[in-house]
Amino acid sequence: MAGLAVLPSTSALPLPFPGCSRRAGSLRRIAPKVGRSGPLTIVAQLELKPPPYSLNALEPYMSQETLEFHWGKHHRGYVDGLNRQILGTELAGLSLEEIVIKSYNEGDLLPTFNNAAQIWNHDFFWQSMKPDGGGKPFGVLMELIERDFGSFEGMMAQFKNAALTQFGSGWAWLVYKANRLDVGNAVNPCPTEKDYKLIIEKTPNAVNPLIWDYNPILVVDVWEHAYYLDYQNRRPDFVSTFMDKLISWEAASARLEAAMAQAAEAQAAERAREEEERRKEEEEDEETRDDGGDMKMYVDSDDDGLEDE
Ligand SMILES: [Fe+2]
Repeated sequence: MAGLAVLPSTSALPLPFPGCSRRAGSLRRIAPKVGRSGPLTIVAQLELKPPPYSLNALEPYMSQETLEFHWGKHHRGYVDGLNRQILGTELAGLSLEEIVIKSYNEGDLLPTFNNAAQIWNHDFFWQSMKPDGGGKPFGVLMELIERDFGSFEGMMAQFKNAALTQFGSGWAWLVYKANRLDVGNAVNPCPTEKDYKLIIEKTPNAVNPLIWDYNPILVVDVWEHAYYLDYQNRRPDFVSTFMDKLISWEAASARLEAAMAQAAEAQAAERAREEEERRKEEEEDEETRDDGGDMKMYVDSDDDGLEDE
């Protein structure tokens, strides 16, 4: 493996702000290495990002032992696995989010999808929690929850139901939906106002809402490795504790703010594109009218000639 620069699995790099993790990805490019004998080798490695708190900070609701296994072994395994899979492939130069979306491959999953999506999901999960979390959301997030679910309690009931009814391993999400899609892997460029709303989704295994172009706001991991050491088979107890004691509504609010700004930006870009199209059509119409005017003058002239005969 001469010429390859390999990063350690852990890093002291600062975490991206919770709401920005989707765009930030976790790819670090390493400067080209110049070997004595020749060609430059550029290697990119994904890093295992630590949770934004110490591993015992969520006790007694989530133990240090759970974090040591869940983050230290399971999450690390996904990072190490993906780095092996993408080495030397076209995926090696992409951001984590790009790898997730590209490897989803319209539902025909490539081998890298599970590792890539699990890394993204776990980064997002760690940032969805904080010590002394829980309570209630505030501001715009609370307003949208009440608008779209009727009440905070209504949203929490739907979220818990999704977490408990996800058969086998998977995830339950609160997401901001800014398009018209229910399924698929495309982007609808023309959502209407009623398409912008919060919804609850559940996904199996590693699947996440990025593949539908939704903006995740909050997630709970319902793989057994997330709760078995602390709660054994009692998933309902784990989910209730997550909701009441661990959720970081600050992180959720920041993500919603970023999602709404992104949607507004997309809307403005779409309006600008439509305006540009309209302007071009008007220019073309004007040119056609100008051409038509010349022809009319020519026909009139011709008619005049006939009359003269
Ligand atoms: Fe997990």
